Amino acid sequence: MAAAIKIAPSILSADFARLGDEVRAIDKAGCDYVHIDVMDGHFVPNLTFGPPVIKDIRPVTRKVFDVHLMINPAQPHLQAYADAGADIITVHVEADAHLDRSLQMIKGMGKKAGVSLNPSTPANAIEHVIDKVDLVLVMSVNPGFGGQSFIPSQVEKIRRIRAMIGRRPIDLEVDGGINAKTAKLVTAAGANVLVAGSAVFNGGDYADAIAALRKAAGGKAAAKSPRKSRRSVRR
Ligand code: DX5
Ligand code: ZN
Repeated sequence: MAAAIKIAPSILSADFARLGDEVRAIDKAGCDYVHIDVMDGHFVPNLTFGPPVIKDIRPVTRKVFDVHLMINPAQPHLQAYADAGADIITVHVEADAHLDRSLQMIKGMGKKAGVSLNPSTPANAIEHVIDKVDLVLVMSVNPGFGGQSFIPSQVEKIRRIRAMIGRRPIDLEVDGGINAKTAKLVTAAGANVLVAGSAVFNGGDYADAIAALRKAAGGKAAAKSPRKSRRSVRR
């Protein structure tokens, strides 16, 4: 598909002692979104940070803050994330008995609304909210930790959700175990936003890592070099 590929480094893999500098560095390195993983130690077996940290890193960059809420309940906290500077707020279908209402609330706050599915959740769990979202986030690992291996069964789910999206202007984002190899697989299946934690932060130069993912996915930047672009698109 022709849509530009967006790269969303996950700051879960950043050095939290230097978080502002890390965000500045991925901005300079050419990221599209800053992926922000919020975990509550309840919905997922890990705990990260909340609105005050997001508020403190907000002035560091103008890039899109893509806030992935792995918290249950999410609804009572949506306003705090909107106020902290989120641009996209994504909630999990498994963590919300009133998903439709949460999505409406996020939109009502003037933010983009996302819905995320765990690996065991079928694609059709979101079919009745598809017209209310700006982004669908397919988890290709069980959420909670960076550095896990990609779950191959999610490729078919990505394909199904891309078909469900049709011509709607909805981002299809994939999160977990994304590297050059899996980036190719998921973009071929219809994903256009790639979250990458370890592939960006644990790989040395951030700009090289982001460019390598973009190139593997056959994204826009690769088109600057037509020869390479053609090769990577064809696989
Ligand atoms: C997992 C998080 C991911 C994670 C991805 O629960 O939602 O964003 O940081 O990390 P990698 O790219 O290392 O799998
Ligand atoms: Zn995430």
